[in-house]
Amino acid sequence: MNRSEEGSEAAANLAAPMDLASSLADLRAAASERIAAAASLDELAEAETFALGPESTVADARKGLGAMPAEDRRDAGRAINDVVVALKAAIEARSAELRDALQAERIAAEAIDVTLDYQQLPLGSLHLIQQVIDEVSDIFIGLGYKVAEGPEAELAWYNFDALNTPADHPGRLESDTMYLDYGDAADELLMRAHTSPIQARYMERHPPPVYIVAPGKAYRNDTIDATHLPVFHQLEGLAVDEGITFSDLKGTLAEFARQYFGPATKVRMRPHYFPFTEPSAELDVSCFNCSGGGAACRVCKGKGWLEMLGCGMVDPNVFLAVGYDPTQVTGFAFGMGVERLAQVRHGVENMRVLIENDLRFLEQFRG
Ligand code: PHE
Repeated sequence: MNRSEEGSEAAANLAAPMDLASSLADLRAAASERIAAAASLDELAEAETFALGPESTVADARKGLGAMPAEDRRDAGRAINDVVVALKAAIEARSAELRDALQAERIAAEAIDVTLDYQQLPLGSLHLIQQVIDEVSDIFIGLGYKVAEGPEAELAWYNFDALNTPADHPGRLESDTMYLDYGDAADELLMRAHTSPIQARYMERHPPPVYIVAPGKAYRNDTIDATHLPVFHQLEGLAVDEGITFSDLKGTLAEFARQYFGPATKVRMRPHYFPFTEPSAELDVSCFNCSGGGAACRVCKGKGWLEMLGCGMVDPNVFLAVGYDPTQVTGFAFGMGVERLAQVRHGVENMRVLIENDLRFLEQFRG
């Protein structure tokens, strides 16, 4: 059957106005139902083809118009058109509904529920050791010092040789110092045993005057006990200028002690030995807890004094090793143990708690 035969058959079927009217009514009902029932845009497209497509009742009715008597044609055309307009409107309305539903679905899927509870992480704070480093650094910054740093894996040259430490110094033994690589004495690589190599590294790169503090980790082959850790922290100080004297050293450290331990703090110096300073001394501060009087004081154990740090006037050999002229400049250096500062200030009996990360301890020092 070709298309014109098809058309004339349809035209024959729908020739009578009453037939046409009821066919259109049937179509309208059936198509409306399918349009309303379309659950997706694809199904709606199928419903549209059924309602208005080339095989639809509407298309057939149009084809049949030509065969109608002229007096019926206008009404029939209008009736067809009314159905088409109504079905198109229904399709458009259903299409809008389906698109709205799709969008609502997508919005729901992508929604972030801002009312959802989140895991509340407690706010951390700096470790006591870092707090002490910051506080002591600040005191020296206030006195005009800069902060310097150096590597923890260090050449024996900077850790020992540049610091006037002889080849047979006991600190060079493996029982004291942790080595990373052996070789010719000065090229050996080790974990620095103190922060003093930063002195040499800094002077090598900066002409005098020098006023620096250098905080950092130091490593020694020590067994952990109440006052020793194999990894601990020091804060180094170095002042080099024209005409610096021992009294500058003492005055500077006395000022530091007053700021750190309290304004009534006194200091005293005892002779000591360090290869890189001459003369060398150890500095004690009066016990801030018992002010020197308490036999039962748990901080100074009745001694009245607390051993704080090592210091001295920079040895001329150190100046020579870093290219400074010891006839032009003099200087002083000091090195203090940060754990010790924390221990003394806060009455921490066993240093171990500083590395155990027990919150009951740490939370007492929330900055
Ligand atoms: N480096 C020394 C030590 O670790 C301390 C010190 C530093 C002494 C600077 C004198 C001058 O014990």
